[in-house]
Parts: sequence; structure tokens; C-alpha cells
Amino acid sequence: MSMNNAIRDWRAQRVWLLGASTGIGAALATALLTRGARVAVSARRAQLLEQVIAPFDARQCCALPLDVRDADSVARAEQALSASWGGYDLVVVLAGDYQSHILAEFNLASARHILDTNLGGVYNVLAAVVPRLRAARAGGLVLVSSVAGYRGLPRSLVYGPSKAALNNLAEALYLELKDDNVAVSLVNPGFVRTPLTAHNPFPMPAIIEAPAAAEAIIAGLERGAFEIHFPRRFTWVMKALALLPAALYLPLMRWLTR
Ligand SMILES: NC(=O)c1ccc[n+]([C@@H]2O[C@H](COP(=O)([O-])OP(=O)(O)OC[C@H]3O[C@@H](n4cnc5c(N)ncnc54)[C@H](OP(=O)(O)O)[C@@H]3O)[C@@H](O)[C@H]2O)c1
Repeated sequence: MSMNNAIRDWRAQRVWLLGASTGIGAALATALLTRGARVAVSARRAQLLEQVIAPFDARQCCALPLDVRDADSVARAEQALSASWGGYDLVVVLAGDYQSHILAEFNLASARHILDTNLGGVYNVLAAVVPRLRAARAGGLVLVSSVAGYRGLPRSLVYGPSKAALNNLAEALYLELKDDNVAVSLVNPGFVRTPLTAHNPFPMPAIIEAPAAAEAIIAGLERGAFEIHFPRRFTWVMKALALLPAALYLPLMRWLTR
């Protein structure tokens, strides 16, 4: 039994992607537009958004620049989209930022920036879209988190906790929105080659390209899955590690990342 209503025909879907100027979001926009969905793309850089949708029919797509840290800008975009399309069926929050943080170089401003974007941004989106989705008693919400949220990781004092919060939040949302017939999915990618990971100084096991990540997300939504994680050869290992008690997990993680 699937946990959400499976999406069968993308041509009937009006999708709003937040965080779609580059990386996984841009690849997802292209893949969904190619399947015939209507797609609105949002992020801060308007010019990049226009480039993402440029190859497609202007009646099928639009760009709504915004900053997810600014609740008013998200609310204004939501109103503009609703006025133009009469609503939306699926909202995918990909907007996120990454920096590695260690205590020896801890920077509070940088920590706040990551939390305001990755977690605060999601609450700003929820405030804007949940009333309309609940009233429609249809559609869905997708939060893009990370396997970095499963357990504590080295050099991850802020990004990991921001994603752990999203993993928890997605479950809380699922429990409430099920009665309203609004689907909730959680996407937990492993490593994907995007601007976000471009400067990682460490080897990234099983890294995949952004179009492959987009296909995995689409396949998960077509299955009606709650958690969509990929690439499985990496994420199953992370899931197995996450099951260990701290007394085993922490020494093992220290050894693996020494
Ligand atoms: N790449 C990976 O290995 C990986 C792994 C696990 C999870 N993820 C997650 O996947 C999501 C997408 O990441 P990605 O890898 O595709 O990285 P990316 O190419 O850097 O994409 C991040 C997107 O978020 C947007 N964004 C950032 N801050 C924003 C803000 N304040 N307001 C609005 N939009 C904002 C960026 O656009 P602008 O800069 O134009 O605003 C961009 O479109 C993120 O949530 C990330 O944490 C990625």
C-alpha cells in the first residue's frame, strides 16, 4: 500500500519548485516540463530561473524569484502563482545551502544563515502554501532533506541538524495532513554533483548527477512513496548505520572518517 496518492499523469500537475535555479531543482524542472507538467520555478537568482525554463513553452512555466528566508517574498509569490494558475498541486522545497562547520572555526552568522535557509525557509513556505493545500483537500508537499540528517556527522554542526529537523518535520506534517488528503514526501539524497557539493574537499561515495536525482524523485512520487532516498547503494548503508546504538555508531563513524 502506498503512503501517498501516486502521481500518474504529470500533464495534470501544476508543480511549484522552490530552489530550482541550479542543481537538483533545475534538473527536476526540466524533467517535469519534458513530461508535460506545468512548472513554476523559484530561487533568488532570476536570470538563472529564466534560463531553466527558456527551452519550454511560456504557457507551461513561469519564474517567481524569491528568498525563502523572507516570508513576505514567499507569500507574494504564492499569491501571484495562485492568481495566475488558480492553485497548484505539488510544492517541492529544495532551497538549501551547505557549509561545513567545526567548533574550532565556528561562525555564528554562517550557522544562522544555514538554519534560516534550510529550516526557516521551509516554515516560510509552509505558512504560505499549507492553507491552500488543506482547503483544496488535494495535492502534495515535498521536503528535500539529506541523509546527513540521519545521524551526527563530522564537520556537520549545522547542516546535519537542519536536515535532521526536516526529517522530523516531514513526519509531523504527514501525520496531520493525511486527514486533509494532502500528500507529504521526504527526499533524502546521498551525494549529487551540484554547485552545493562542488567544493567538498573529501571523496563523495556513490555520487550521482542531478538529472539522475531528478528521475529518482519523480519515480518516488509516481510510487506514492513517503521517503524517497537515492542512490540506494549509498543510502541503505547510511540507513543501516543510523540503526546502530550511539555506543557503536560513534566509534565506527570516527574510524570511518578518521
Ligand atoms: N547535492 C547533494 O549532494 C545533496 C545531498 C543531499 C541533499 N541535498 C539537498 O538538495 C537541495 C538542492 O541542493 P542542490 O545540491 O541542488 O544544490 P544547489 O545547486 O546549490 O541548489 C540549491 C538551490 O537552492 C536555492 N536557494 C538557496 N538559498 C535560497 C534562498 N535563500 N531562497 C531561495 N532559494 C534559495 C538556490 O538558488 P539561488 O542561489 O538562486 O537562490 C538553488 O536553486 C538542498 O536542499 C540540499 O541540501 C543535496
